[in-house]
Amino acid sequence: MSDLTALDRIRELLDPALAECSSEHGYLDLLGEEPIDESIAQRLMHSGLLPRIYERFWRPALIGAMKGPLGPSTGQEMALVRRMLELGPGDHVLDVACGPGNVTRALAQSIGDDGLAVGIDASATMLTRAVQDTEAGNVGYVRGDAVNLPFRPASFDAVSCLAALYLFDRPVEALAGMARALRPGGRIAIMTTRRLPLIGPVNDVVGVASGVRMFGDHEVTDALTRLGFSGLRHRTYGLTQFVSGRLA
Ligand SMILES: C[S@@+](CC[C@H](N)C(=O)[O-])C[C@H]1O[C@@H](n2cnc3c(N)ncnc32)[C@H](O)[C@@H]1O
Repeated sequence: MSDLTALDRIRELLDPALAECSSEHGYLDLLGEEPIDESIAQRLMHSGLLPRIYERFWRPALIGAMKGPLGPSTGQEMALVRRMLELGPGDHVLDVACGPGNVTRALAQSIGDDGLAVGIDASATMLTRAVQDTEAGNVGYVRGDAVNLPFRPASFDAVSCLAALYLFDRPVEALAGMARALRPGGRIAIMTTRRLPLIGPVNDVVGVASGVRMFGDHEVTDALTRLGFSGLRHRTYGLTQFVSGRLA
């Protein structure tokens, strides 16, 4: 087991030009005062209230409703994502748009003390909560932009991005950054929105108004194929889709 803290270990994975960033709030802060986005959904993510209710109330209610009655519970979803990512002891896993660290901590349980789980998010309030709620020594957080990931290429064995791709202004660029962050053979797991064919136009109107984008059933898989992923699996539950694959 390494004597370095999780934040020391994460600094070593950052683009060298960024490694001197502040850690005064318990996470590595690459954004300072810089705002990222201004959609309704984004502003909500930066509020003080949402991080406090997100994991226990908001996510189970909202994402649960989107997954529908036949979708996995939160616990089943975490087990599914761990399987999709084929995590093992010593792995480095990046959780993109980690919010209050709920998924990051779940993934960290599968990688042992020598592994490293890194959560990245733009919201200072979400990350403050993540730091408060995290005891494990193999987890650390970065405040940065998911669409412009700050890590050296090929730093991770696995990358997850759950309940967030639909908030990004440039989702395909974000997926390309995730591919760059992965080592050859690295695994990816995405959970995002799903545009239902029959009510697609309604989905789109709601999406444009709120800043939540709805993805067609082939959109994410096609983008990952173009980025060099294979063995893609696509599962749908209600208004959500789960996609996994492996980088060649
Ligand atoms: C709904 S939460 C998802 C949290 C967690 N991944 C989960 O599955 O519960 C969405 C998160 O995406 C983050 N986010 C949105 N756009 C981002 C961006 N461009 N860069 C980094 N984080 C972003 C928000 O700050 C928010 O914490």
